[in-house]
Amino acid sequence: MHRLSFLVVAALCLLGLPLSAIAEPFAIPPNEARPAHMEKGPDLSDFVRSCPPGFNDTPAMPMHYGQESILNMPLNRVFALGQQTFVTNFNACDGAGRPATTGTGVERTPDPVMGPRFTRVSAPETSSCAGCHNQPQPGGAGDFAANVFVLAQAADPVSRIILNEDFSNTWDERNTLGMFGSGAIEMLGRQMTTDLQNEQQGAITSAEASGKSVTVNLLTKGVSFGALTANPDGSVDTDAVVGVDPDLVIKPFSRKGVFRSLREFTVTAMNQHHGMQAVERFGTGTDPDEDGVTNELLIGDITAVTIFQAALPVPIVSTQGLDRTMAAHGAEVFNQVGCAGCHLPTLPLTSSQFCDPDPQNPAGTFNDTSQSYCFNLSQTGISGKSVAAYTDLKRHVICDSNKPHYCNEPASPLQASDSNYAIPNNQFLTAKLWDTGNSGPWGHRGDLDTIYAAITAHGGEATDSETEFEALSNSDQLAVVTFLKTLQMPLLPPNQDPNVNTPGQNSVHSGG
Ligand code: HEC
Ligand code: HEC
Repeated sequence: MHRLSFLVVAALCLLGLPLSAIAEPFAIPPNEARPAHMEKGPDLSDFVRSCPPGFNDTPAMPMHYGQESILNMPLNRVFALGQQTFVTNFNACDGAGRPATTGTGVERTPDPVMGPRFTRVSAPETSSCAGCHNQPQPGGAGDFAANVFVLAQAADPVSRIILNEDFSNTWDERNTLGMFGSGAIEMLGRQMTTDLQNEQQGAITSAEASGKSVTVNLLTKGVSFGALTANPDGSVDTDAVVGVDPDLVIKPFSRKGVFRSLREFTVTAMNQHHGMQAVERFGTGTDPDEDGVTNELLIGDITAVTIFQAALPVPIVSTQGLDRTMAAHGAEVFNQVGCAGCHLPTLPLTSSQFCDPDPQNPAGTFNDTSQSYCFNLSQTGISGKSVAAYTDLKRHVICDSNKPHYCNEPASPLQASDSNYAIPNNQFLTAKLWDTGNSGPWGHRGDLDTIYAAITAHGGEATDSETEFEALSNSDQLAVVTFLKTLQMPLLPPNQDPNVNTPGQNSVHSGG
């Protein structure tokens, strides 16, 4: 067990809390804690859903697809289907709501006081993914009102401050991120993971062969993740590993770097935000959330919504309405004052093929690569193999007592990554800046309404760079801000596929 998770467990034991209590803050329940009803079920084939008896209405997403059908569709059709699912306002006939399951997927006793479906703090709090990810359009970022109260979903239901009890220290308020270009981000993460794990394996092999401990520097795509020492007995000392969990798996998604794949995030978000339970995590033919609907989302449905996000175009540079010369100068100053030390202007892809699922997806997320859906990321606008996302996909501490803003997350215990390593509450993944121009407000809580404020709030590891930025002339500072405003998510043409989600297409079997 990693030292930090061990400390959390030890602290909870001292407080007399049962070990099961720590399963709660995790993004998904660890394997041991997962009830039998969450074992992965077989996939189903396409079907059209109708409302359960007693509802004289219609589901918002009547048509469901098994993986086999999705594998036979071209990219534009899968993209359009996934886009449709992303904007669907799920209702009770679809299986929205989860009276008997928390936002982490753990069983709970339904609470009659909390109302039928919506609970603002611990969720379900929206009808669709696009209820939050809508700026400048579905798949994008979100305003302050779309913030999520991360970790409250584990204590579900939480919708009010009960009497004098203050719950505000039990969640972290986070602002909605945009997914444009995220197929390339996921592949960068997987390639970096492979490099780091190969370096570790090399060290283990040579320690065993030489009978002496071997230390290697962990370096991938020009980013250093510290060092690791392998011992002749095959054990590994990860004390000097920095910016990534000790399992060396880059988790490029969420502001803290908690999830390794879009698919894993999507299955989690569907349950948390909408009470839509995917068969790959919650089982086939079962109803763990006790809302009267089974098979709420098939493997193919999740593939489509994952591919939609992965295939969203990469952000662009737009100087419309902005001073071009100033923006070009700002890009140079950005490098000169060391912003590029963390916000690396580009990272190289070794292969630009995107395939879902990630074979390393943890339990509860589909990971059978014999049924992969693949496409080339050149279709998302990646030019060559260089990804200009302005991140190193590494966690940093950019706050301290002088610059406390980015240390403002109160929740304890620490948030765990998908492999259950606890992450201290002052560590964040270097924000991708390629969509800064139209993803405001900024900062993990979305409480900074100027880019200037987001920059000058940097401290901790970013102190030298921030000090240099503050020493610049007013016009040089404005040039950096102008440069960042040119980095934007593009507008997509409207979805014009008339076949999307229309019952009767393909070889449809009725049922479900
Ligand atoms: C209530 C608002 C809200 C809803 C609804 C919502 N999200 Fe999010 N989403 C967020 C926030 C906030 C974050 C950042 C979370 C964090 O950093 O912990 C996020 C992050 C993500 C990310 C990671 C992006 C990145 O670059 O790291 C993905 C992927 C994602 N959401 C997918 C979805 C999908 C798919 C749905 C629908 C099933 C969905 N979200 C519904 C608010 C929302
Ligand atoms: C030590 C690494 C590091 C350095 C150096 C650094 N940053 Fe950051 N930056 C981060 C991290 C980490 C975040 C994410 C903070 C969060 O999630 O709240 C961030 C966030 C940002 C954001 C907010 C983005 C958003 O979408 O909310 C902006 C803008 C930004 N940085 C610009 C800069 C500029 C300009 C410089 C140089 C003056 C700089 N950064 C230097 C690590 C760094």
